[in-house]
Amino acid sequence: MSESQTFTPRHILVTGGAGFIGSAFVRLVLARYPDLRVTVLDKLTYAGNLANLAPVADDPHYRFVQGDVARREDVTAALRDCDALVNFAAETHVDRSILDAGAFVTTDVYGSLVLLEAVKKLGTPRALFVSTDEVYGDVEEGASVESDPFAPRSPYAASKAGGEMLVRAYHITHGLPVLVTRGSNTFGPYHYPEKLIPLMITNALDNQPLPVYGDGRQRRDWLYADDHAAGIDLVLRRGALGEAYNLGGGNERENIDVVQQILTLTHKPESLVCYVQDRPGHDRRYALDCAKAHELGWQPARLFEEALAETVRWYQQHEDWWRPLKSGAYAAYYQQQYESRFAKS
Ligand code: NAD
Ligand code: DAU
Repeated sequence: MSESQTFTPRHILVTGGAGFIGSAFVRLVLARYPDLRVTVLDKLTYAGNLANLAPVADDPHYRFVQGDVARREDVTAALRDCDALVNFAAETHVDRSILDAGAFVTTDVYGSLVLLEAVKKLGTPRALFVSTDEVYGDVEEGASVESDPFAPRSPYAASKAGGEMLVRAYHITHGLPVLVTRGSNTFGPYHYPEKLIPLMITNALDNQPLPVYGDGRQRRDWLYADDHAAGIDLVLRRGALGEAYNLGGGNERENIDVVQQILTLTHKPESLVCYVQDRPGHDRRYALDCAKAHELGWQPARLFEEALAETVRWYQQHEDWWRPLKSGAYAAYYQQQYESRFAKS
């Protein structure tokens, strides 16, 4: 669509910045750009955690506002002083979207609409929407390119695709200066322990069973959180308006291989692996062709095995971060999600 241009933001509104990748982005850009100001707007759902932002809490260029991207007044007030928006806010867990998809549509679709309307009303110079490789659906072979049609297969993926469709429509219809990134499976410190890697690490550390869905041969392409954040930062500054960019780690692994590596790194026995009932509609594989982001100058810096070992060490050293998260509402969720799966294993 539009020609590429370099953009230097002065004050970014980061929505969903108290989550896993959003907080990695905030920590990265505040460290990289001494003059940059960052405001985080986050609802602080179960997945939002101010402890993720503790390393920047005293930075005078950082400000936190609690609010909801699906509430027009929250978004308008926070965006007013900013010249860029980066949206991470979303319901993100596929398994939760299978139990109840309502919040996914409210945040991932309607929240995107509210953000787009605010960008339009305030004339914000640039807005990047963080999306996912899951919009392409299951990829049996080869790799998805940005022009491939959407074929989402879970309620989560469908809600992300719906949000993205609105972004594209607002660019075409209203000329909004938007960008999209589609990242692959991300991992690293501060990852909420409902997703594969942090769930398996924390269960292994507690000598609890590791619930592997189906045959465990599904494939994901793993991207380290700091590499994902760096890709988003580059696309924000250098991407062509109206365009989407794939950001994949280039580390395609079967789930069972990842689980076995975690057992090795935690010195735990193979007997902890428990094959359980599969996820309904489970996508076997995602894969991204990232030539477009590579041409822009982005490459993931971290090797998977080395970054996984570092991540395991982080969880070993930060029990104070994850133990509180695994009690209370999480325990109830875990029982609802896994009790019958284990029973049928
Ligand atoms: P996360 O679940 O860790 O964090 C989501 C954050 O959004 C939380 O801080 C939460 O409080 C906030 N939030 C949720 N609803 C909100 C609302 N209505 N208003 C304001 N804030 C709200 O998510 P993540 O894994 O960091 O993912 C961030 C983004 O990256 C999402 O858009 C996700 O779709 C996308 N993505 C994630 C991955 C991955 O592997 N984790 C990969 C590719 C893309
Ligand atoms: O591909 C990008 C997507 O990656 C993001 O858009 C999502 O927000 C993020 O949650 C992630 O989705 P996945 O469904 O791929 O991630 P999850 O960690 O839930 O699962 C990874 C794989 O591991 C998947 O094949 C399902 C499997 N799995 C997961 C869990 C939680 C298990 O075998 N056992 C489990 O207990």
